Amino acid sequence: MTKPFDPKVFRLGYIALECADLERTRDHYVETLGMTEMARGHDGEVYLSLGADHHNIVLRPAAQKALVHQGYQLKPHHTVAEVARDVQALGLKATIKTDSQPGVAELVEVEAPGGVMFQLFNEIAMPCPGWKETGASILRLGHLAVISAEAEKLFQFYTDFLGFAYTDDIAGVARFITCNRDHHVVNVVGLPDNRVHHIAFELKASAFHVSACDALRRAGVDQLWGPARHTAGHNIAGYHYDPNKVMIEFYTEMDVFVPELGIQEPRPWHEINPLKPRSWPLENMNAWGAPFEFNFVTG
Ligand SMILES: [Fe+2]
Repeated sequence: MTKPFDPKVFRLGYIALECADLERTRDHYVETLGMTEMARGHDGEVYLSLGADHHNIVLRPAAQKALVHQGYQLKPHHTVAEVARDVQALGLKATIKTDSQPGVAELVEVEAPGGVMFQLFNEIAMPCPGWKETGASILRLGHLAVISAEAEKLFQFYTDFLGFAYTDDIAGVARFITCNRDHHVVNVVGLPDNRVHHIAFELKASAFHVSACDALRRAGVDQLWGPARHTAGHNIAGYHYDPNKVMIEFYTEMDVFVPELGIQEPRPWHEINPLKPRSWPLENMNAWGAPFEFNFVTG
């Protein structure tokens, strides 16, 4: 009997990144991706909204790029105080912070295995600046892929403590996990490094991949791969680098996880039915059979 799917969190709210070239990176997210600048912090950090939440991306000036933290929204019956206590019982560091950033009155900051920082909160302000019709017109923050030298322990933190479910892997190296109905909200990549691999935004519809690629190209940004359909998740995906050299994925049509059945529903198509969690080979990254021409794991 597998354990019931009942994660403590239900969505990825925001990601904070350190940037060497803050203004150019900010312009990429605002002008080319279509986000809205909401606030500037005391240390020069920029808070960017997709359309509803106070922020979904935070950019902080620094000497070099880094993943600062990932913010998840707790289900209402899990309080910050309770989570802090349970994290400390695991032997991990947890710090409750109040008014540490605009839009989030209270959160618990957790240092997970490998030094990966989480912020877990119950509420984030929703000033709703609206979605832009310019640039790539991104819709929502969907997932992130994190490379960790402590991947096994980090994976266990996501699954055993936060309650994420395993949905697929690629060659055992990249493991996909979810806390909601998306095929994946996180991709834990086990390599001897500690950094963000990519962050992913869902587009409004697959037709927007074309206008998104056009918007990137107008801004002088090349595609790295795609848009094409993946095998794991079957999302239509295209990748590029932001000016901070963080890889960004635009995606649509991702498989929908049905935890009660332990399967993925197609959106709208995949070859194997019913599709249960499986290990996909590295050489089969494109559901349409076309070559996959850059190294997805190390890229
Ligand atoms: Fe992805």
